[in-house]
Amino acid sequence: MGKTIDIDWSKLGFSYIKTDYRYVSSWKDGKWDAGKLVTDNMLSISEASTALHYGQQCFEGLKAYRTQNGQIQLFRPDRNAKRMNNSNRRLLMPEVPEEKFIDAIIQVVKANEGYVPPYGTGATLYIRPFMIGVGDNIGVKPAPEYLFCVFCLPVGPYFKGGMAPVNFSVSDYDRAAPYGTGAAKVGGNYAASFYPHELAVKDGFADCIYLDPATHTKIEEVGAANFFGITHDNHFVTPDSPSILPSITKYSLLHIAKEYLNMEIEERDVFIDNLSEFKEAGACGTAAVITPIGGIKYKDKLHVFYSETEVGPTTKQLYDTLYGIQFGDIEGPDGWIVKV
Ligand code: PLP
Ligand code: COI
Repeated sequence: MGKTIDIDWSKLGFSYIKTDYRYVSSWKDGKWDAGKLVTDNMLSISEASTALHYGQQCFEGLKAYRTQNGQIQLFRPDRNAKRMNNSNRRLLMPEVPEEKFIDAIIQVVKANEGYVPPYGTGATLYIRPFMIGVGDNIGVKPAPEYLFCVFCLPVGPYFKGGMAPVNFSVSDYDRAAPYGTGAAKVGGNYAASFYPHELAVKDGFADCIYLDPATHTKIEEVGAANFFGITHDNHFVTPDSPSILPSITKYSLLHIAKEYLNMEIEERDVFIDNLSEFKEAGACGTAAVITPIGGIKYKDKLHVFYSETEVGPTTKQLYDTLYGIQFGDIEGPDGWIVKV
């Protein structure tokens, strides 16, 4: 079982903790090296790396879960591998073979096994794969070399309180453009979200919601999670847009809503001036899991969905099913769970 780690799992939030091992692989002269685990959490890269100047980088986020019988499992890591390669293609970076991506993750989780929180604490091991363009370069063009790295850390809830409602405000800013990089998980999208996020937090909100950049009439997503709403006739609705991140949790919830909860599902436009069509709403993502949305502030008015303090029954059912599958208490669809 490896070394014993002295962490109060129930008190974890979403903050950096240095674990023992991380994985680094280097791409040079058109090919990847074998990659290896290292203990040093510092990277030494050229001052002229494209990742530092032109934002040529991308990342992923997934989790390892401890099951009731003490085993460790991953949730749909193949989806993260595919999405990272979409991001890589968008920024002209080399692809990471899917087997290499999953093998790197398994190596990192096994090497840091003692940091995988015990079953029942609600905490998980968050895994952060990333790619950066490195090497000497000054022109606005792709890097000559790349690093693919994976590190991990134990985490608790991303939003304070976890499965407790939070309020969001609608931002006047955009995080992505219609033909931009919104659907890729690249750092620039997140750097652009710091300022609107800070404004929302200063106003007492957990984060902000972005509207579609072209018309500012439709909900896109939250800074670090997708949006869903439950209509009064119990349909699971989530925005359809080319400039939001295709959330693996969102697609999993679409499947769970349809196949496990017998709900109708809809991926379509969600208009900000029609929030009253929903009896419940939530934000979903790897870090956010499902975070119920108490209310959304738009144009000085707070629209409250189910409640600002209580979790709606459908949101709870979706959460319990997703959580059950991720922690191994409920059988997931074929291929969703990968044992470490
Ligand atoms: N949207 C954004 C902008 C995100 O950063 C994330 C987190 O990865 C998500 C949505 C949710 O995606 P996933 O469910 O794949 O974690
Ligand atoms: C995730 O949910 O994995 C994310 O990447 C969201 C945020 C921590 C950036």
